[in-house]
Amino acid sequence: MSGHIPVLLEEVMAALTPRDNAIYVDGTFGGGGYSEALLTRANCRVFAIDRDPAAIERGTALASRFPARLTLIHGRFSEMDHLLDVRGVSAADGVAFDIGVSSFQLDDDRRGFSFSSDAPLDMRMDQSAGQTAATICNTAPESALADMLREYGEEPRAKRIARAIVAARPIITTRQLAEAIERAAPRHGQKIHPATRSFQALRIAVNDELGELERGLECAERLLKPGGRLAVVSFHSLEDRIVKRFLSQRLGREQKTSRHMPRAAAAPALFRPSGKSPVFPSADEIHRNPRARSARLRAAERTSVRTPGQAQIGASR
Ligand SMILES: C[S@@+](CC[C@H](N)C(=O)[O-])C[C@H]1O[C@@H](n2cnc3c(N)ncnc32)[C@H](O)[C@@H]1O
Repeated sequence: MSGHIPVLLEEVMAALTPRDNAIYVDGTFGGGGYSEALLTRANCRVFAIDRDPAAIERGTALASRFPARLTLIHGRFSEMDHLLDVRGVSAADGVAFDIGVSSFQLDDDRRGFSFSSDAPLDMRMDQSAGQTAATICNTAPESALADMLREYGEEPRAKRIARAIVAARPIITTRQLAEAIERAAPRHGQKIHPATRSFQALRIAVNDELGELERGLECAERLLKPGGRLAVVSFHSLEDRIVKRFLSQRLGREQKTSRHMPRAAAAPALFRPSGKSPVFPSADEIHRNPRARSARLRAAERTSVRTPGQAQIGASR
């Protein structure tokens, strides 16, 4: 199994600007690339979260290199404020998200994320919880499957593929699913495999990835101290749209509701821009790590404006 090469690492570090005695949250620990860089560049503390128990298990080697500075937490980043609160931390100087799956997960034949090998059709980042992709394929109504493929996979042949999935039931393995999709939607000279979009859609649905991202961003907003930095790396337009909308709402820009209505008053800014955004990987990075090709980073700095219900910003116990 290969390792995971951190994506946009220098750019994420430039956005977070690691400082001594600061507290950082790595919301997507994965192979630990961001956590390791933070811990190496400053005498800081890192709370690293991953919903995949295998990532946390792998991280114990890194934790032993940074005793008392790296805390590994099995959980979802949408519960980040609670996960930190029970560890006595109520505010952070930086939060990083590197959304999606790691190379460890993609390349592990037992996880079912990829159609390039045959494996049980699972796709759960946390195999101890939730429905597998096979359960969804075998039980969801055809119309719900089509909606999912259209919405999360931006798949133009969603209806035809959903019909093929229902006809091929029971589907147990990645290969069975990829073959059913290929029969319904042949390649016709396209560069990407016809199952690519459907696999993306299923993975997003199985892990509720877009809901997690929305809730995770709100958690980060509550947790960040004034001047604290948020850095989010995303890999496709659905995720990037959520991050972009979240930040543009918080950057205190005027909201125009309708061309017949006056512009609504600007809300007080919860974030201010920090650096150029979005940032894309360089040609050199894409050459070294082709999996970085669709990545983009958006970063911002938290202002001192409180969110509704936020008791005391800047407090750290
Ligand atoms: C792209 S990898 C992160 C790689 C990491 N930045 C590195 O440099 O090694 C994404 C990781 O986030 C985890 N993940 C995805 N969604 C999550 C969520 N909602 N909560 C916690 N972890 C999540 C995945 O299990 C995966 O290990």
